[in-house]
Amino acid sequence: MNSDTHKQQAAQRAVNFIRSGMIVGLGSGSTVKFALEEIAVRIRSRRLENILGVPSSSVTDRMARDLQIPLTSLDAHPQPDINIDGADEADPALNLIKGGGGALLREKVLAQASRRNVIIVDAGKLSSRLGDRWPLPLEVLPFALKSVEQFLISQGARVAIRRTAHGRRLRTDQGSFIFDAHFGPIEDPVTLAAVLSARAGILEHGLFIGLTDDLLVAEDAGVRHLARSSARQR
Ligand code: A5P
Repeated sequence: MNSDTHKQQAAQRAVNFIRSGMIVGLGSGSTVKFALEEIAVRIRSRRLENILGVPSSSVTDRMARDLQIPLTSLDAHPQPDINIDGADEADPALNLIKGGGGALLREKVLAQASRRNVIIVDAGKLSSRLGDRWPLPLEVLPFALKSVEQFLISQGARVAIRRTAHGRRLRTDQGSFIFDAHFGPIEDPVTLAAVLSARAGILEHGLFIGLTDDLLVAEDAGVRHLARSSARQR
């Protein structure tokens, strides 16, 4: 089975968590696209009624509108009932690297604000240590670009600025830049997250620690559901 089939299977399982009347955080990325399509199918067939989505990016906003999924804002609904998102990498503690699509800042706002976070991945995203497969994306204030770059290098990373297909520096929905910081396998993601959060100019980093409630992993044998044991404090 190919990766798209897996992504679609995980997305369909995630949509089973949505009930009519819910406010739903809508993540970003190619896996979430399948979730949006499934939500739209269920709205059309009235299996889901009165749901409102909160998109995490301009791309998701556009896709949801095209699919006629009713939307709202986080200001109007500051605590979504559920948030569905993808990830670039997931470790055995259900910690994540996110930001491959450049939407990590709003994605983390939604993840922290929502009552429940359901993350959908194919089995290729699992790794024993974060950083094994993917650099760590960070959203950076343009004013602080060079100083943050030097700071990241001092922390042991090789740093590349994210560029568009046309070679221009990618601007996020907030107008800031994305660095991809290659730390290699990250021994202690909790400490690294604290170090990065403490540095002014780093608007957000792609380490999502302790935010996943349910990880749905699609593989040839079906979709595996890994649930976090303890409830989160919000
Ligand atoms: C977007 O900024 C990311 O955090 C995505 O959630 C992540 O990159 C996963 O994307 P795919 O579903 O396209 O692999």
